[in-house]
Amino acid sequence: MTETNPAAAAAEHPDAQDSAAPGREIPGAPSSVPPPVAEPVEPGAPVPPKPDQRGPQTYSPTGQKTGIAQKEVAQGGDRLTTAQGTRLYDTDHSLKAGPRGPSLLQDHHLREKITHFDHERIPERAVHARGAAAHGVFQGYGTASGICKAAFLGEGVRTPVFVRFSTVLGSRGSADTVRDTRGFATKFYTDQGVFDLVGNNIPVFFIQDAVKFPDIVHAAKPHPDREIPQAQSAHDTFWDFVSLHTEATHHTLWNMSDRGIPRSFRMMEGFGIHTFRLVNAEGASTLVKFHWKPRLGVHSQVWEEAQLTAGMDPDFHRRDLADAIEAGALPQWELGVQTFPDTEDQTFAGIDLLDPTKIVPEELAPVKPIGLMTLDKNPSNYFAETEQVAFHPGNLVPGIDVTNDPLLQGRLFSYLDTQISRLGGPNFPQLPINRTHTPVNDMLRDGMHQTAVHRGVAPYRPNSLDGGCPFTAGADAGAYIEFPEPLAATAKVRDAAATFDDHFSQARLFWLSMTPTEREHIIAAYTFELAKCREPAIRERVVGTLANIDGELCGQVAAGLGLPAARPAAALDDPDPSPALSQLGRRWPVDGRTIGIVIAEGQDLSGVRTVRQAILEAGMVPLVIAARAGTRDADGDPVAVQRTFATARSIEFDAILVAGAPAPASDAYGARDAKADDELARAGVDSRILLLLTEAYRHGKALGAWADGADALEAVGIATDSPGVVAGDQAAPVLERVKELLGGHRVWDRFTPSV
Ligand code: HEM
Repeated sequence: MTETNPAAAAAEHPDAQDSAAPGREIPGAPSSVPPPVAEPVEPGAPVPPKPDQRGPQTYSPTGQKTGIAQKEVAQGGDRLTTAQGTRLYDTDHSLKAGPRGPSLLQDHHLREKITHFDHERIPERAVHARGAAAHGVFQGYGTASGICKAAFLGEGVRTPVFVRFSTVLGSRGSADTVRDTRGFATKFYTDQGVFDLVGNNIPVFFIQDAVKFPDIVHAAKPHPDREIPQAQSAHDTFWDFVSLHTEATHHTLWNMSDRGIPRSFRMMEGFGIHTFRLVNAEGASTLVKFHWKPRLGVHSQVWEEAQLTAGMDPDFHRRDLADAIEAGALPQWELGVQTFPDTEDQTFAGIDLLDPTKIVPEELAPVKPIGLMTLDKNPSNYFAETEQVAFHPGNLVPGIDVTNDPLLQGRLFSYLDTQISRLGGPNFPQLPINRTHTPVNDMLRDGMHQTAVHRGVAPYRPNSLDGGCPFTAGADAGAYIEFPEPLAATAKVRDAAATFDDHFSQARLFWLSMTPTEREHIIAAYTFELAKCREPAIRERVVGTLANIDGELCGQVAAGLGLPAARPAAALDDPDPSPALSQLGRRWPVDGRTIGIVIAEGQDLSGVRTVRQAILEAGMVPLVIAARAGTRDADGDPVAVQRTFATARSIEFDAILVAGAPAPASDAYGARDAKADDELARAGVDSRILLLLTEAYRHGKALGAWADGADALEAVGIATDSPGVVAGDQAAPVLERVKELLGGHRVWDRFTPSV
């Protein structure tokens, strides 16, 4: 059976012509066709999903391709029924003894509806509770074939993937743009079983041994008495722990850098963190670290912008991901590996490969690309897919094996264990999003939510009653066989290798690799977070730790906190910086970036039409901002307004074009909209663009203006010859210059570093 093409189905829908209405090419419409104003009174054809959406591919609970169209595993039909499929005539009134009487226990519909609702929630993940996900495809380059026998890495092999990005600390309803590490978990549905690469956007971790995971998480989560603060590290228990537990220093420094506040999931690197082992067809082992390299480069928000975003649009990252895919700006990452010989001591250039608080600089071991991932569809149901997906670092395929990194070893236990609780029993691999695309014959039976109907009488081995099946496979028949790593004769100990005691040298390497602007951001982040701590002793202790990274860092943070600078415990080394760690200084594609266009009422819109079209053609999103909603020039070539001065805030835009000087609208005064500035109103410009433009300027965003737009910029105090401000007579050349500025992400010249 073939899958319904949602785009074609949407086009055939009776209301489809309305999807060409002005502004419909802007992503984010809730449904594939616009709804009528009046409530429908006759059942019509069910509205198909949006063309950018897809559910999990249809495999049986036992991993066999069903060929069933995705729409047939979703609810369908145009009539309301009970869960048993019986049609209902009323769902607005419970069954009562008379119109004013008590409700009757026999009302099976009331009980079924309310009971199901009462059980709609499941426990959120213990960590990484807030996430957003997308479907995609991974295509191998074949470049890893010499070191890894995993078939999905072969040249041209295409493998479906599902990727979930997340924050670590916050609850499911928390904001996206908090300062935190981001999860980057990828499920590869390979022909040899599921492989999960469960990584983060930061290449090191807080702890070296999994036994401390509950400690770091308890310290970083909200305080257990008041349950505050939500989704952030700027509080006493976090800094209490990381200052006493100095192996967290390196990861904490990454968190305080711009990596802790990404601009977009699409603009993050991903890292497997641990050293893994790849095994080739001859059985030879190579140690590797996995890297995801985003095609769009690595970019961040600035801190004030991140804080404003958390209030203005707490769904900023999840919206950005979904909108980009819907708009056709498909996010891409190259998967790469750093490779290391599998020596007895498992070190490389003196770096312990089993210590997850250490990186290997890319200048010492370059990242070799092995495949390309493209995310091309949004999920069609958040709960069924993004919430119920279950990643596990132990989901491995032949050719990929683990090492003895003590953090990884503990993870191999934790994920399966926690998912039994979160997903209500041991059968969660049967949930549609988790189903492998290979036949399953595991002899695991029964349990809560068993959805397979197994046959046979002998789910045990050896047996003769089921013909001895299932038989085991050998390596030649694709079995997963652990690498026979030799283990030295040793004693049981609760201890770690001496190399694990170095907690500061790589933190210093990171600091020295930052540009002056990035260092300013790190100083500001530490100063902010520690100033939010209540206890002076904790601040002082952290300042003591910073002295072991760098004197300038320690001195500046101490000054901001009103504390004396500390001295390092030992003389600091000066390792060669790793330029690959810095985010600044290169140019990147601008796909999916959002450009705001401010217009005035009654102005000539020809320039606006030109840049709007050019922005769409460049794979970016133009959002027209005006005093009131609706459409301008509705009778000619209409221009739809997506944001009003009341709803617009700078955080949503990567750059802003000012096409006119809007006169004050009727709601442009402080009592109606606090963004209004009555002083500026006298200058004849709607005062709410003051905040819009000055905030964008402060956050290093490119600004462009033509026609009266230049007057508007001057009216809010932004000189048109300032860095990153482009003014001209014609719209098109202004846009071209703004696009060039966007390629560098921000106008870095506006930030003057002191260090
Ligand atoms: C390198 C270190 C680690 C990385 C990169 C990492 C990454 C992740 C990611 C990306 C997720 C979210 C998966 C999703 O999107 O559903 C996650 C969830 C989780 N992690 Fe880790 N983690 C690390 C260490 C640990 C350790 C040491 C433990 C425990 C010993 C642990 C326990 C968990 C648990 C319990 C979940 C929730 C899983 C679920 O409910 O599905 N993690 N981790």
